[in-house]
Amino acid sequence: MTSGARRDSAFAPIAVALDAPDEATFDEWVRAVSPSVRCLKVGLEVFCRQGPQALERARHQAASVGRDDIEIFCDVKLHDIPATVGKAATALAPLAPTYLTVHAAGGPEMVAAAVEALPTTRVTAVTVLTSLDAEQLGALGITGSPQEIVLRWARSAIEAGALALVCSPQEVSILRAHVPADITLITPGVRPADSAADDQRRTATPERALADGADLLVIGRPITGQDDPAAAARALATTLLS
Ligand code: C5P
Repeated sequence: MTSGARRDSAFAPIAVALDAPDEATFDEWVRAVSPSVRCLKVGLEVFCRQGPQALERARHQAASVGRDDIEIFCDVKLHDIPATVGKAATALAPLAPTYLTVHAAGGPEMVAAAVEALPTTRVTAVTVLTSLDAEQLGALGITGSPQEIVLRWARSAIEAGALALVCSPQEVSILRAHVPADITLITPGVRPADSAADDQRRTATPERALADGADLLVIGRPITGQDDPAAAARALATTLLS
């Protein structure tokens, strides 16, 4: 069962990864894609270059094209002792991100610290990084199949108050079957059928990821890497909303 209520939107269930090389490009991409999508994702690269103000900048640029309702996704994957994560999350509170990522591997107390600091944000747990396979996890002493670990860590994060999970297209159907319907499943590694995979390995089309139960698709280069990002976002939105 999917959380269909969140799909009832005029905007495509896409979080555009704004991995921009400079502020001018960042602004340009925000204005180009905002008329079509539900969410803008500010990741570590931009956050480290532009600072937390990048969230405000995204919101401001989106508002300039009439989208003052756009969701803002702060994807900085916090992972530290609970007190530090709590204080970092408190520092982000004035920016009121819709989503904030934290590593489930930081443990339930750490996730709970972020939840407590940001009661109106959907604290989003990243389980196993998709760059880690079973062999690398085993070498780190983390046993079980990646799917078992994902499920175990997802449950722990949800019990600690996380309201969303980041998961690969490979995990979305198993998570959808095992976590409450109101938990937002956010899926990167999404590629329209006619797009290059870039460095993503285990990809799925947007249609497949949504059919498997994803609520929000992280899509970057298939939109921002095009000559006309506005047209690319519009075309994807038309396909997904029709
Ligand atoms: O669509 P594209 O590959 O350009 O999207 C890349 C974005 O998705 C980056 O911001 C990256 O951090 C994020 N991401 C990912 N794989 C994950 C988690 C997040 O590519 N497993």
